[in-house]
Amino acid sequence: MPSIRCIGISTGGGDAPGLNAVIRAAVKSAILKYNWKVIGIPDGFDGLIYPERARELTLQTVSGILPRGGTILGTTNRGNPFEYITTENGVELKRDISEQVIENAKKLGLDAVITIGGDGSQTIALELFRKGLNVVGVPKTIDNDLGATEITFGFDTALTTATDAVDKIHTTAEAHHRIMVVEVMGRDAGWIALEAGMAGGAHVILIPEIPFSVQAVCDHVKQREEQGKPFTIIVVAEGVKLQQWKEQRRTGSVANRIGDAVADGTGKEVRVSVLGHIQRGGSPTPFDRILGTRFGVAAVDLIAEGGFGKMVCLRHERIEAVDIAQAIHHLKRVDPGGELVQAARSIGICFGD
Ligand code: F6P
Repeated sequence: MPSIRCIGISTGGGDAPGLNAVIRAAVKSAILKYNWKVIGIPDGFDGLIYPERARELTLQTVSGILPRGGTILGTTNRGNPFEYITTENGVELKRDISEQVIENAKKLGLDAVITIGGDGSQTIALELFRKGLNVVGVPKTIDNDLGATEITFGFDTALTTATDAVDKIHTTAEAHHRIMVVEVMGRDAGWIALEAGMAGGAHVILIPEIPFSVQAVCDHVKQREEQGKPFTIIVVAEGVKLQQWKEQRRTGSVANRIGDAVADGTGKEVRVSVLGHIQRGGSPTPFDRILGTRFGVAAVDLIAEGGFGKMVCLRHERIEAVDIAQAIHHLKRVDPGGELVQAARSIGICFGD
């Protein structure tokens, strides 16, 4: 067993509700169960580039953070020490400063580091592990698209927020006899759209995993009209693409484009709501708090066992550990032929195909 006296914790990539639950659980368990010192590394791996910003996390520091969204450590989508961007003489350069990061971790006295992050952060963590840093990963993303774990914390809160939005859209759609398009996050996976659509009683769900046509969506709207339902809720995942869309657009534009096309195709009034980062904020649901807590505790136990280069995950309701090398780059996407999609189809939900 490794001799551990001090560990670091960092949060990287987009935030997800439940990050603070992981931090709190890891700090509490490291101190109460193992009597270790814990250092908070601010803003992802940036905190190891500028170690002077690191600070000790105590029982007092983590007191009261369980219901809070965000992360008390801060995070960033940038800050890759293998491709650190600097500007020299007005020219942007990428430099590998990973050696410096390892050195800084040593200077901080870190015997191991818990990296809480998604695919990007875990890829960097694995590279640092290969260079000698003792890392243990905790998976995180609201998108729920990591193949190594059945579910990531943050997803349930995002799903709850999106479902609540669809519920609210429902009443105004019905009152005005309108088509309402609600865009949700999820990157290249349709989990939030599929589940919020089903939970919120949407009539059309468009996800990246199922190719769709605007014509099929318009036909469904007209069919509903004929059945005496003059309003339609369309939940669309931000990652959907139509073949005729040549250029890549920024997040937030797909619902508007689909809304315009459906308005043209049906002659009906359409309104669009893009939920955006609302889905990443707010207080985590009890499920995410509990999963975050279990992951935080398990990550600390994994360090105590010397399970470096591994990541905690949930499989068959049990917390397990997988090699980060095996876990990364395996994205979990909606199975178009799976039970969830079949159930949605059975109740008349249209996928635009
Ligand atoms: O991966 C989480 C996520 O919220 C995605 O659903 C979304 O596409 C992306 O991050 C947004 O990232 P940013 O914080 O850079 O806007």
